[in-house]
Amino acid sequence: MATPAPTSPPKSVSPKPVSPKAVSPKSAGPSSPPEQSAGLDVTVHGDVTTTLHPELEAETYTESAYSDSEVGSYTTSLSSSVMHYRFENGRRYHSQSMTDTSYFLPNDEAENDRLDLNHHVLCLIQHGKLHAAPLDEPQKILDVGTGTGIWAIEMADLYPTAHVVGNDLSPIQPRWVPPNLTFEVDDVEKEWTHKPNSFDFVYVRYMVGSIKDWPRLLKQSFETVKPGGYVELLEPDSTLRCDDGSLPEDSALAQWGKLFTGGARGIGAPFDDTPNFSGYLRDAGFVDIKREIFKLPNSPWAKDPHMKEVGGYQMAAFIEGLEALSLFLFTTVHGMSVPEIDILLAQVRKDMKNKAIHTYFNLYRYVARKPEST
Ligand SMILES: C[S@@+](CC[C@H](N)C(=O)[O-])C[C@H]1O[C@@H](n2cnc3c(N)ncnc32)[C@H](O)[C@@H]1O
Repeated sequence: MATPAPTSPPKSVSPKPVSPKAVSPKSAGPSSPPEQSAGLDVTVHGDVTTTLHPELEAETYTESAYSDSEVGSYTTSLSSSVMHYRFENGRRYHSQSMTDTSYFLPNDEAENDRLDLNHHVLCLIQHGKLHAAPLDEPQKILDVGTGTGIWAIEMADLYPTAHVVGNDLSPIQPRWVPPNLTFEVDDVEKEWTHKPNSFDFVYVRYMVGSIKDWPRLLKQSFETVKPGGYVELLEPDSTLRCDDGSLPEDSALAQWGKLFTGGARGIGAPFDDTPNFSGYLRDAGFVDIKREIFKLPNSPWAKDPHMKEVGGYQMAAFIEGLEALSLFLFTTVHGMSVPEIDILLAQVRKDMKNKAIHTYFNLYRYVARKPEST
């Protein structure tokens, strides 16, 4: 099994103390004088490394409290790279310093609200469950591309003895979270730096359109999961479907569907790779691969009360997210202007609210296990 090379260590969201630089016990014995290393004094006593910060002396101030502008200046410098957000067409996007990928969705308040609403839809369609894998007292859980961190926060509450880690390109997660939860800024398309065989559960949700190399992501998941641990994916294929002919070919909604899937293909992260995940999971080494397909209605058109409720929330999330889902893909891939997009979206919203139109997406849930011995 390959050991991930620490090429791009995740950036911690909250400021952390500087890591002490340990020296090898060989380089200094118990009687050795303190060693000067990068401004730190490091003493090794047996196998205990003590790091001293000789520069830590209190300065004398005339004022008793730090001013807001002083506090602000630290936030500004901390946020310099990962929070160098891009602003395009009135929306905020992740920092380009984090990645060369072109993640197509914004990371602003409106998008975060949509993600939280989407979380509600996904919990509802799974009858309130946060996961399907048969977890038994998990100790470490990884949420890949955590978004607002809402799933990770609920998992940390559900499994208080587990440590949950959520990573993402953008540090948009709340600061005050359960003590057993950590958020990291990371690009999951790069080499993972987590220890091999260290997580009981790796969870991936709504990352289609973000990930260009799914086989690699699933291989890295396999390496990171402990023997006997699980990976789970919940991903739509994002092809607008209709079984009863109620979506006219020439409707704005049908046209939007084609532009949307074409746009994802255009940035090299196609939505329609989702049905192929069984093969990728098998190739990565997973066994007991279970695949379920849910029909996710885009409005409350279903007779069944549960599916009607799911469809109602999905419609709200879809309408709220329509601009975000379209802007980047339609301008960059299809060369459309913002006014052109606005006109199309106004018609699409009407179609989405039309009770006579019955569309849905296929939502795939995969659960797979890493064998005890590999
Ligand atoms: C559609 S959101 C889904 C968020 C969350 N998994 C959920 O289900 O609520 C996709 C998330 O993946 C993140 N993302 C996209 N590409 C990424 C990458 N290469 N590495 C890490 N995060 C990424 C985005 O910043 C965004 O928060």
